[in-house]
Amino acid sequence: MDRENFTEKFFEKYGNRNIMPVLFFSPGRVNLIGEHTDYNGGFVFPCALNYGTYLLIRRTDENLLRFSTANFNDDSETAINGLFVNSGKKWINYPLGVINEFIKRGIKIKGLEMLYYGDVPNGAGLSSSASIEMVTAVALNDFFKAGLSTIELVKMSQKAENEFVGMNCGIMDQFAVGFGKKDNAIFLNCDTLEYENVPINLNDNTLIITNTSKRRGLTDSKYNERRSECERAVELLQVYKPVRNLSELNIEEISILEKYITDPVIRRRATHVISENGRVLEAVKVLKENNILRFGKLMNQSHDSLKSDYEVTGMELDTLVYEGRKLPGVIGTRMTGASFGGCTVSIVRKSESAKFMNELATVYHARTGLIPEFYQPEISSGAARIENQD
Ligand code: GLA
Repeated sequence: MDRENFTEKFFEKYGNRNIMPVLFFSPGRVNLIGEHTDYNGGFVFPCALNYGTYLLIRRTDENLLRFSTANFNDDSETAINGLFVNSGKKWINYPLGVINEFIKRGIKIKGLEMLYYGDVPNGAGLSSSASIEMVTAVALNDFFKAGLSTIELVKMSQKAENEFVGMNCGIMDQFAVGFGKKDNAIFLNCDTLEYENVPINLNDNTLIITNTSKRRGLTDSKYNERRSECERAVELLQVYKPVRNLSELNIEEISILEKYITDPVIRRRATHVISENGRVLEAVKVLKENNILRFGKLMNQSHDSLKSDYEVTGMELDTLVYEGRKLPGVIGTRMTGASFGGCTVSIVRKSESAKFMNELATVYHARTGLIPEFYQPEISSGAARIENQD
């Protein structure tokens, strides 16, 4: 939707054409490698997308917060009167959870009219939730002159999702959409929060995101189950050494898991996390050396590990990945995000990209009955006000 139509929708909802709303944008993200490592204190390598969430926002004199979205019909308003409780409407819980974090910090929230519009598919592993949270956080920080740093806004958004929405996510998504830098991926140590921007130069290759178009069901409960399995692994490893998280073990230590973790399921989960951290370290190194072929191989290995050891893929993702790998010009392809559905991310030679999308769509549809969606994203910058007027 262009700016003019979006603003028109805002005026249709809220009237008063004399006062212009301000526009903010927060990207979604795609994780290139380093999956299910963030809540294990490990490494991730995501980048922000040019798809995400737009927010038009304007102050009012009323003691009300008004929420609306241009994606579907669902308007609501709520009086500002202390902390908010879960609204029962899923999408509004994301901004409400963030607003609560501001209130908890003693920041006085006054009347607002807000219209959201997202062009990142919902619940497809591209961080639509973090994108709504961060666009709200950045807008409130600006409007109420709260003076909070990006890392504080990131942590407040993660807290909103953990405590208000009830999804026990790590910090990767909010960090990526908050700190994204155009044409760079973020190499983040999720334990120390130290990070480095790494330029993404894929030569004559391109990034393609493919959405399985599968409706995801049990993602949150399976996600929490994986988290507890990792915690269990850490408990069992205390006899070996007093680790705080699985990422304190390096790749050479995978061989000791057999001795200390007898449950094969828990052992496989730990194997994934430790091997995935090793892959991220190597992936960042080879990317800096411009070795895209090796980067692609590591993406492939990441998927295989998420399928066999971590068991978070499923038939649809595996079909996209393993059929995709048979096509010419595919350098690497893997699931991205929490998954059990959602999207894959692939690096494909530019000259073969049209063929890749056509042929993959045909075989995927034949196997699953579903129609995949393709995105060729640009790597964009983090959440920000994108216009100056107030
Ligand atoms: C979701 C979570 C992230 C991360 C990924 C898996 O996107 O929100 O914190 O755990 O899954 O890598």
